[in-house]
Amino acid sequence: MNNERNTERAATVHPVLVVDMGAQYAQLIARRVREAHAYSEIVPHSMSATEMLAKKPAAIILSGGPASVYEEGAPGVDPQIFDAGIPIFGICYGFQLMARALGGTVGRTGTREYGHTTARATETSSVILGDDADEQTVWMSHGDAVETAPDGFVVTASTDETPVAAFENVERGLYGVQWHPEVHHCQFGQAQLERFLHQVAGLTRNWTASSIIDDQVARIREQVGDARVICGLSGGVDSSVAAALVHRAVGDQLTCIFVDHGLLRAGEREQVERDYAESMGIRVVSVDESDRFLNALQGVCEPETKRKIIGREFIRSFEAAQRALVEEAGRDGGEIKFLVQGTLYPDVVESGGGDGAANIKSHHNVGGLPEDLEFELVEPLRALFKDEVRQIGLELGVPESIVWRQPFPGPGLGIRIIGEVTRQRLEILRAADLIVREELTAAGLDREIWQCPVVLLADVRSVGVQGDGRTYGHPIVLRPVSSEDAMTADWSRVSFDVLARISNRITNSVEDVNRVVLDITSKPPATIEWE
Ligand code: XMP
Repeated sequence: MNNERNTERAATVHPVLVVDMGAQYAQLIARRVREAHAYSEIVPHSMSATEMLAKKPAAIILSGGPASVYEEGAPGVDPQIFDAGIPIFGICYGFQLMARALGGTVGRTGTREYGHTTARATETSSVILGDDADEQTVWMSHGDAVETAPDGFVVTASTDETPVAAFENVERGLYGVQWHPEVHHCQFGQAQLERFLHQVAGLTRNWTASSIIDDQVARIREQVGDARVICGLSGGVDSSVAAALVHRAVGDQLTCIFVDHGLLRAGEREQVERDYAESMGIRVVSVDESDRFLNALQGVCEPETKRKIIGREFIRSFEAAQRALVEEAGRDGGEIKFLVQGTLYPDVVESGGGDGAANIKSHHNVGGLPEDLEFELVEPLRALFKDEVRQIGLELGVPESIVWRQPFPGPGLGIRIIGEVTRQRLEILRAADLIVREELTAAGLDREIWQCPVVLLADVRSVGVQGDGRTYGHPIVLRPVSSEDAMTADWSRVSFDVLARISNRITNSVEDVNRVVLDITSKPPATIEWE
């Protein structure tokens, strides 16, 4: 795999650096900065001030973290950044680090504040608090607390337990809050973050879908020249938007491959071929490989074995389709040199490859692409979060049915049949799944629900009474969940009426199913998928 890639933003873009202190807060902060239409990048706390400054940041945000500043090996930050003349905002642990680095004190007070807390303004004016209410609800999660602010800082808020809950040094452009403004439960959190970005750092709202498209189109053209490009489409948002961007940049130089592995839901192939390819004018070569996959899955029940087989067969199918395309292109005198991937920023950050290394999470690709592909990667979504990808998709005219599609696993229905995968079982599950999707859409729940796996317990049978007789059929499990990132999830409180309609329709019309059950487990302890 060719590791060279074009990930650095143009030198003209001054990022807001979010310094990751080791918890999951950094990604959330980086997203909130993007929501304020400014470009953000996550960097590790171990990065030196010189390296940070080389990125020409417009501002720096120190994130919260799980540690106490007193723990051995606790994350720190190169103190030289505080003298660089760049606006800095410290959040929670980052606030405490800033306090300590500049001569304030942090106490192991023994008092803890978690969750909703009331903060009170202690000054008549504050840059970060602006005109927000004097008393406001903030979201706290800390043990240690700042006891005295550094010299030159004004304390701007306090809570019952924490006298120094926010401070600022306007002259030096240094600000901090003990709470988490990035969390939605924080009443004025986003406004406070935006005051820092817009008023303090002077950032304009220029990170928009259309500016990202213009920028990426120029980059793709530069990278690809007049060579040909291929893209594996899964029918999901990421690969569809990545392909649409590349198509906008280089038009017919792009050909997409869609592998139908026979584990798709009802109508998915048509959605890709008709709603997407035809309406966008993108060339898609579909290959029906269902026999290959279903033969390979015969007799297999163990989930990870299924995943491996599906991944392996996917690579074989993709390679065969790609070879055919390369031969065809060779006859035309064109060469296929590039492969488009819909890698997103969270994948890049999570695999530790923030600035370059090719770390592709096979789990989140269409079954995982081969390691030794002789292509250079084109990854136009590498700097983006999912919500940004959706906005770009809309702007590019990608059909809404694809832009707002809920996540669907690469191995498809293969991991939603508990037991052996057979054609007949796939038919049963497809029919049940279609009913669920129709009813959730009719109830207007598509955006509210993160995803709703429908699972066939093919190895379980229970007694029922349908029509005149006793039946011995399978249960269908409904697993509607709400989530922000699939790392954690809660079961969705779908109304009883909607559930009743789903249950009636499934048991009345889907053969061999005589029971519908609802999964009411959060993640953790359960996962979203059953396999
Ligand atoms: P779990 O089941 O781990 O799922 O809570 C988290 C998210 O990942 C999706 N998922 C997969 N996606 N290949 C994929 O491309 C897979 O093998 C796979 N397994 C789970 C799942 O649908 C959810 O969105």
